[in-house]
Amino acid sequence: MEHVIADSVGTRHVVVTGAGGQLGAALLEAFPGARGLTRAEWDVSLPPPADLGEVDLVLHAAAWTNVDGAEADPQSAAAVNVGGTQNVADLGVPLVYFSTDYVFDGTKRTPYVESDAPAPQSAYGRTKLHGEAAAGDGAWIVRSSWLFGWTGANFVRTMLRLGEERDEVAVVDDQRGCPTYVGDLAGAVHELVGLPSGVWHLAADGDCTWAEFAEAIFDEAGVDCRVRKISTAELGRPAARPAYSVLRSERLGAPVLPHWRDGLRACLARI
Ligand SMILES: NC(=O)c1ccc[n+]([C@@H]2O[C@H](COP(=O)([O-])OP(=O)(O)OC[C@H]3O[C@@H](n4cnc5c(N)ncnc54)[C@H](OP(=O)(O)O)[C@@H]3O)[C@@H](O)[C@H]2O)c1
Repeated sequence: MEHVIADSVGTRHVVVTGAGGQLGAALLEAFPGARGLTRAEWDVSLPPPADLGEVDLVLHAAAWTNVDGAEADPQSAAAVNVGGTQNVADLGVPLVYFSTDYVFDGTKRTPYVESDAPAPQSAYGRTKLHGEAAAGDGAWIVRSSWLFGWTGANFVRTMLRLGEERDEVAVVDDQRGCPTYVGDLAGAVHELVGLPSGVWHLAADGDCTWAEFAEAIFDEAGVDCRVRKISTAELGRPAARPAYSVLRSERLGAPVLPHWRDGLRACLARI
């Protein structure tokens, strides 16, 4: 079944899970009047709080997002990303679930579209893909990538901190994707809930490697720090990441997000 919510979402009872996260913060701005629930207010691995009240739409931004940590403890990651999504879906109301480019294996060299077959290479990616199924056929499944915002732990904030402390940072240059500003994604989600449900790829325009992104961050922020380009193998993180995970939509009327560099400028203006 496909849900179409008209342009009246502002007057409906919208709930944002994971409201303490970087995307949750942006969704609360894009959906004025929405009720944000932090992990303390609803640990989604448990049934909803008794005082949840009327809900017309859930923007489900709560997730286990520690990609490397999921390799060591996949069951805990699944309890949140799969079990938690099931608990949200059990409310039986329209739902936006946030998924990831890490559901793909990264072997393509042209952008991944909605009809491409997922093949996650990490425990995190597997839990997010199973979470897509738990969200159900009637949900909007929003696959996005490399999120950054003005709060929380993200690559932009980490680079700004390291750039102040060091003359040089080592950053991987063999993973290519679309760094997406949470403010732009939240705006696109507002547009999306007026469109049919199903899987949608919503990521920033343009693409780059993490090292190119780091150079742009230092450039835009006026930070004097060199970027030493290294390989994924040199970094040696526990979880495998796709070498290429540029996301584009093949669906009619898909919201188009600004270029990642514009998103970066908008984000830096708030940090
Ligand atoms: N970050 C990315 O690059 C990226 C890329 C693609 C897709 N996504 C997806 O986008 C969504 C939002 O990610 P984000 O970047 O905003 O992550 P985030 O900043 O880590 O926010 C996730 C939020 O979920 C909360 N949370 C964790 N476990 C929970 C639980 N059991 N019950 C309720 N809340 C819980 C976290 O709380 P604590 O802080 O207390 O743990 C945090 O506030 C996620 O679905 C993520 O998988 C992220």
